[in-house]
Amino acid sequence: MNDVLISTDFQIPQNPPPIYIIGAGSIIEEAHLPAYRKANWKVNGIFDLNEEKSLRLKELFQIPKSYNLLETMVAEAPEQAVFDIAVPASQIASILNQLPNHSNVMIQKPLGETLQEAKDILRIVKEKDIRASVNFQMKFIPSLIAAKRMIDEGLIGELHDIEIRMNIYHPWEIWEFLFGIPRMEMLYHSIHYMDIIKYFLGMPKKVYAKTVQHPKQMQLSSTRSIIIFDYQMPIRAFVNTNHGHDFGLKNQDSFVKFEGTKGAIKATLGKNINFPTGEPDHFEYYLQDAEPQKWITAAVPGHWYPDAFIASMADLMCAIENPHAIHDTNIIKAYETMQLVEAAYISNDFGGTEIPN
Ligand SMILES: NC(=O)c1ccc[n+]([C@@H]2O[C@H](COP(=O)([O-])OP(=O)(O)OC[C@H]3O[C@@H](n4cnc5c(N)ncnc54)[C@H](O)[C@@H]3O)[C@@H](O)[C@H]2O)c1
Repeated sequence: MNDVLISTDFQIPQNPPPIYIIGAGSIIEEAHLPAYRKANWKVNGIFDLNEEKSLRLKELFQIPKSYNLLETMVAEAPEQAVFDIAVPASQIASILNQLPNHSNVMIQKPLGETLQEAKDILRIVKEKDIRASVNFQMKFIPSLIAAKRMIDEGLIGELHDIEIRMNIYHPWEIWEFLFGIPRMEMLYHSIHYMDIIKYFLGMPKKVYAKTVQHPKQMQLSSTRSIIIFDYQMPIRAFVNTNHGHDFGLKNQDSFVKFEGTKGAIKATLGKNINFPTGEPDHFEYYLQDAEPQKWITAAVPGHWYPDAFIASMADLMCAIENPHAIHDTNIIKAYETMQLVEAAYISNDFGGTEIPN
């Protein structure tokens, strides 16, 4: 019998401020705007360097105004507005430089393309006294919120193992800007999984990583990675991604598995399988202290798109309302995730241990 309370709740703001969007690309259309529509939050304006794209989304989502100049949108936005930026990471710093001091900003991940760029962005945010969040929303996928609750309540005992496995076929051609850049898979994709492991287990002492190309995806700098977090304790946590599994859906995998001293949880994230259409999510757990002792499948309401995007924006909006709110999307926490990514690339470049004679 399923008597475990599955909770996917998160804090929501009392008075959500209006949202102004910068960048009218695929993630805004597929996730941000559907999320704000579902949450019933006001989106007042949208700007993209490519005006056709912002006009298209203005019509599609009935946004009152599309702008052809960022300057004009900034001038018309009220003081409490949230600027929601979703552009290639290389553009973030220059956009922040054009926003007013003391603004509220949600920045799509990653926070720059290197740790140095992350530092530069952080410096701008501090100098301009911007309240900034970074949209690492995967940790707020409803099934991962449910897993966090169960783990925090001690239901699986001491958490000592996290495995994140993606054996999928990803249509990288959707994102032109990823072609020709020196860092790709770990920076633009596995970064979410590194952020998730940090959210559950904290910062590791060390990171080992290897990221490699796929023979059929050679236009991208890498599309397969193994990343190991070393806590120098009896904890194992790792990410294993292969985006080149072009052999049908049957053996595609997309899951986060948690093991504790008294139980385990497996959250299958269907969106990555057959992306962007996606397959259903699954949530299963096994508790040694409960009867019957077997894997139980539970229904978890909601999905990555758009629900996790409501949760990440709600986290920022709550921090605007209350400076003592948790603010899990805080740029300072996102900077730590960028440190992990940098460590992963350094480890990759440094290489493994030579085979001794
Ligand atoms: N789950 C996630 O968190 C997730 C998923 C997909 C993409 N993303 C992130 O979102 C960002 C955008 O991705 P996308 O899929 O929408 O890409 P996209 O290529 O579809 O859209 C990017 C848009 O940004 C616009 N743009 C570029 N520079 C700009 C500037 N200086 N000012 C205004 N507009 C500008 C482009 O014209 C384009 O319309 C990327 O950083 C990516 O990492 C996050």
